[in-house]
Amino acid sequence: MVEGRWLPRHCNCRFSTAMATIQLVIGVFVILISIASLHHFYSTPNSLLLRSSDSTACRRFHTLSDLGAGAGDGDDDNGRGGYTDFDLRALSDRVDDVASQLHDLQSKLESTVQNLHKSTKKPTKSPKLLAENMTLAAFKMFLEEEVIQPLYSAHVALRLIRIPRPQSNSNSNSNSNSDSDPLPPPDPLVNFFTTEEIRKYVSSKGNRDGKLSVFGTNATYNTIGHACVRLRKQLEQYMNYDIGSYCNDDWDLGQKLMLAGCDPLPRRRCLARASKLYKAPLPINASLWTTPDDGNVRWSKYKCRGFRCLSSRNPKRGFSKCAGCFELEKEKLKWVETASLAEFSIADVLNVKPGETRIGLDVSVGTGSFAARMREFNVTIVSTALNIGAPFSETIALRGLIPLYVTLSQRLPFFDNTMDLIHTGVFLDGWIDLQLMDFVLFDWDRILRPGGLLWIDKFFCSRKDLDDFMYMFLQFRYKKHKWVVAFKSKDEVYLSALLEKPPRSL
Ligand SMILES: *[C@@H]1O[C@H](CO)[C@@H](O)[C@H](O)[C@H]1NC(C)=O
Ligand SMILES: *[C@@H]1O[C@H](CO)[C@@H](O)[C@H](O)[C@H]1NC(C)=O
Ligand SMILES: *[C@@H]1O[C@H](CO)[C@@H](O)[C@H](O)[C@H]1NC(C)=O
Ligand SMILES: *[C@@H]1O[C@H](CO)[C@@H](O)[C@H](O)[C@H]1NC(C)=O
Repeated sequence: MVEGRWLPRHCNCRFSTAMATIQLVIGVFVILISIASLHHFYSTPNSLLLRSSDSTACRRFHTLSDLGAGAGDGDDDNGRGGYTDFDLRALSDRVDDVASQLHDLQSKLESTVQNLHKSTKKPTKSPKLLAENMTLAAFKMFLEEEVIQPLYSAHVALRLIRIPRPQSNSNSNSNSNSDSDPLPPPDPLVNFFTTEEIRKYVSSKGNRDGKLSVFGTNATYNTIGHACVRLRKQLEQYMNYDIGSYCNDDWDLGQKLMLAGCDPLPRRRCLARASKLYKAPLPINASLWTTPDDGNVRWSKYKCRGFRCLSSRNPKRGFSKCAGCFELEKEKLKWVETASLAEFSIADVLNVKPGETRIGLDVSVGTGSFAARMREFNVTIVSTALNIGAPFSETIALRGLIPLYVTLSQRLPFFDNTMDLIHTGVFLDGWIDLQLMDFVLFDWDRILRPGGLLWIDKFFCSRKDLDDFMYMFLQFRYKKHKWVVAFKSKDEVYLSALLEKPPRSL
């Protein structure tokens, strides 16, 4: 290799030049940043900003974050600017972010240059080798990973710092006609995120022709869970992909985000990965009670690498709820044979209102066996399923049933008074906060149709909490078809019930 012949002195000199250039570039960036922020600052059509034009530019820059708190004062003149305090604060945060990114980069460069001087001055046994390593691998890596990448992201972040423009149709005359006709506020959160893809996602999309859509709306809003704000870094990581290429293998990050409250997640414009060995699923008469093929699941994020490993006998299977629910032989007995008073059979429950139960929801942790058994009674059940430690969603789908990938964070995607049945087991237990449970139960009540059945299947809690939970279920004044409290252990009890929603015809 040609570069291998370079002498260390030679290379050192080249290094210094390179470093000096880079530092110069950084300097320019820092200046650019300040100018950009100040420019945006001056061009903000907010009366509050203009009013303070006598103070120095420097002071103004520092008070950017204070402005957020004081933006309320600006509102009394005219709140039309729509630059809510949140946006200003987010903006200033982002400027700080980029500034600190650049600062980090600069110090890293400086220390590297210093180390370089030290190490090249030291007498080495094989200066040629060192030179080779430095020039080729280290230098290239260093430039790419430590300089170019951070510079690039700082650059992108810098370019993205802009104050949201008011809605397009009233752009030009935003200052004149505003007194009578307040402008719509800018999209919330757009300025909070730095990843372009999130910003695109949360920007409202007006209809192309400016007319109302089939939904009777002017614009469509993509939504994300409000707790995404707390999880900005993770969400930006999740949304960092090339449009149209394969997504990272990161469904688990998505699920973590959802469980932490970032629910709904943004949509992504990348291609989700499938398992390498996917085979067509079995026909429905066979698939309901056959363990699916291992090849049809991506196992990389689980402790187990196959369905056999998920057996209840394996203590390291990776999930704790519903032990044995991947053993379909055992599952076949559920809701058919009843081992204790707290277990009801499906046949008994359906006989409470013969022929009336056709559709329902199973809010449980499981592999869809309830839905499978109900299907044999010609009842269609949608099963909620999160992939907590095992591929529950895929398993339910491969069995030919419908997995609904939702967390407790969200209102259920069903309309009022629609479901004939809600079944719940192994899910709502004594851990749940009572207020959360209240919201959940009222949501269930909402979607149950008049005369619909709520089947509480072995809800368990500690004995001392039983009264609280009983109140929770009884507050709706449902008709009690079945109501059983059984001891699980000395301190824990099971509550099973079959309740019917009253007509409430108002
Ligand atoms: C240079 O790199 C080679 C392998 O790439 C390594 O064996 C050698 O020890 C390195 N030399 C120095 C001085 O780092
Ligand atoms: C849609 O936009 C038009 C024109 O800007 C406006 O008159 C109308 O009220 C808007 N409709 C809705 C539902 O926002
Ligand atoms: C499933 O149905 C097909 C045709 O509908 C039939 O040939 C096959 O024997 C059935 N399999 C089982 C396991 O019942
Ligand atoms: C389900 O529907 C099929 C076809 O309509 C019918 O043959 C079968 O008897 C029904 N099963 C039950 C349990 O009602």
